[in-house]
Amino acid sequence: MKFDTPATTNPIDQLKFIGQPMDRIDGPMKTSGTAPYAYERHDAVQNPAYGVVVGAAIAKGRIESMDLRAAQASPGVITIVTAQTAGKLGKGQFNTAALLGGPEIAHYHQAIALVVAQTFEQARAAAQLVKVQYSRANGRFDLAAARPSAHKPPEQDGSPADTRKGNFEKAFDTAPVQHDATYTTPDHSHAMMEPHASTAAWKGEKLTVWTSNQMIDWSVGDLAKTLGIPKDNVRLVSPFVGGGFGGKLFIRADVLLAALGAKAARQPVKVALQRPLIANNTTHRPATIQRIRIGAAKNGKISAIAHESWSGDLPDGKPETAVNQTRLLYAGAHRLTATRLAVLDLPEGNAMRAPGEAPGMMALEIAMDEMATKLGIDPVEFRAINDTQVDPEKPERPFSQRQLVECLRTGAQRFGWSQRRAEPAQVRDGRWLVGMGVAAAFRNNMVMKSGARVRLNSRGVVTVETDMTDIGTGSYTIIAQTAAEMMGVPIHKVMVRLGDSAFPVSAGSGGQWGGNSSTAGVYAACVKLRETVAQKLGVPVDGAVFADGTVRSGERSVPLAEAAAGGELVVEDTIEYGDLDKKYQQSTFGAHFVEVGVDVATGEIRVRRMLAVCAAGRILNPKSARSQVIGAMTMGVGAALMEELAVDKRQGFFVNHDLAGYEVPVHSDIPHQEVIFLDETDPVSSPMKAKGVGELGLCGVAAAVANAVFNATGVRVRDYPVTLDKLLDKLPEVT
Ligand code: MOS
Repeated sequence: MKFDTPATTNPIDQLKFIGQPMDRIDGPMKTSGTAPYAYERHDAVQNPAYGVVVGAAIAKGRIESMDLRAAQASPGVITIVTAQTAGKLGKGQFNTAALLGGPEIAHYHQAIALVVAQTFEQARAAAQLVKVQYSRANGRFDLAAARPSAHKPPEQDGSPADTRKGNFEKAFDTAPVQHDATYTTPDHSHAMMEPHASTAAWKGEKLTVWTSNQMIDWSVGDLAKTLGIPKDNVRLVSPFVGGGFGGKLFIRADVLLAALGAKAARQPVKVALQRPLIANNTTHRPATIQRIRIGAAKNGKISAIAHESWSGDLPDGKPETAVNQTRLLYAGAHRLTATRLAVLDLPEGNAMRAPGEAPGMMALEIAMDEMATKLGIDPVEFRAINDTQVDPEKPERPFSQRQLVECLRTGAQRFGWSQRRAEPAQVRDGRWLVGMGVAAAFRNNMVMKSGARVRLNSRGVVTVETDMTDIGTGSYTIIAQTAAEMMGVPIHKVMVRLGDSAFPVSAGSGGQWGGNSSTAGVYAACVKLRETVAQKLGVPVDGAVFADGTVRSGERSVPLAEAAAGGELVVEDTIEYGDLDKKYQQSTFGAHFVEVGVDVATGEIRVRRMLAVCAAGRILNPKSARSQVIGAMTMGVGAALMEELAVDKRQGFFVNHDLAGYEVPVHSDIPHQEVIFLDETDPVSSPMKAKGVGELGLCGVAAAVANAVFNATGVRVRDYPVTLDKLLDKLPEVT
């Protein structure tokens, strides 16, 4: 189905299932421990061996020699895979550095060997016995030091590195009120609960890998390319994913090494990346340095806005596109954005939840708060004054929907924003200095081609098959709701099968496009199934009502199951998008409100209340969408107050590479959280009229926290995370 004109009324609009806060259909499997995760495919694989990955102990240089004798002689060892034994490996589309390194080493903890043994403990013990001689080369590990050498990177997904409109310099120089500041965000780790894990088995030339992955088709392609075998010979299965956040968009060393290990061992092999390996072996959100300049008239109207960002990556790597939201979020005639990329020899930088906007909004939304302070205008008002209903760089493109101001106003009212004191450090509650902060939320809405197969059997059961993944987001449930709505069957009559490359290629889970796009693909397949059913029953499809397990047409009412009496009906279709996303700017909007307390003596920061208001098209399931947003708000608190991969700038690695050293919020860090979804449908986004929320919920949160800390204390921190050492010597006198 081609989607190239805005949606009109369709069966989804009945909202019997869609839009309802249904429980997750996969919930009981997860809570009872029966959902099969990649490392635990006891159902699929007998007698597996266990692989343990050896990571490089240098960041850059080469392996001079490897002595495997002691490891090979260790009890239970079956085989050891290295770049020397693996044969020629190709390069996939998505990995910057080789997934199996050697002799050249591209980054610290790059995999250099897989030790395969009868048991995990034997493999782990033997892995300690691998002796490696390296010659170490000098590397570049310091973004600030590399900043002057940064270059202009090529376009990213159709988006240029730089944009310009009007004459920024002149407008900024002559603006009555100016702000010019530099902000930094550190490297972040995805820190998902389930490590990257794979079980691989060969049958002749055919390879099956049970893995934990967000994008099945990308990953099948890359694994086939790397191994140099036809794509048809590779099957990836990833029905349950214990979190990804962008870290599992692509295959990682576990997938390749499990495949190579299973081939060498001639038996199935399981590989889970050890937690202390993950931060340096896999990808991370790269650190940024961001300079923002804003010029405005005394009435608050922005006349000039500039956002420049520097990040680093391995040679041939990609920039963090942290300036992109600034092209769209606020009005202003004179504008400039620039993205610069420095070469660093740290591990590969790549997508982490809301790449671009997440770190970009961390900086922009503090700058907006600082500007509001300079203008003496309330920060909610200041944002409203600078709203735009069209793309400010290309005014001929309207936003398909844009309720930013409504989000801000609704939130202000619900949060009690009028109680906030504009002057900082005015509110005390015992030992706590109390403050409130606000930030806009913004994330683009991308749409992706997505396919599905639907079956109807003679018992009236509808089965959906698609390679879509559920990374904890609720895909199973919203897909079941979509099929139930379209076919008029109760939810327990829908079976959803996901995450298998044997199923039609879907949008996959990434960039918050999964919910809207994958359900739109199921919609397309169900439209086809409705036509097939109508034909079988001999009724015209136009005007036929699919409800309560029956098909009604005029006076006739026939059980749906009857259409499959002569055999199961199976149809398949793919939603494909035209250029509506070029005619209209599709974005999602929100507002984050946060109240913090800061201990007046120690500088300890506690978040006391949080509210998010989101406008993101039709909300397919308010319960799972709320879970997405409160999870994202929690991640935003981490970005604001805790998360930072500490770079060893001499040795070139992330020092705090486990969950003890890389701090993320826990339950006791998170207060009451509230989420409001504004009523919205976006007929431009898809027949579902939905958009993404999973990443929107993160964008802006950290700035709202930082702004609340400023309001509480009068201390402005521009370098994340906002930790107490950055406050301590500037806190007001204790009285
Ligand atoms: Mo998201 S970073 O595209 O999984």
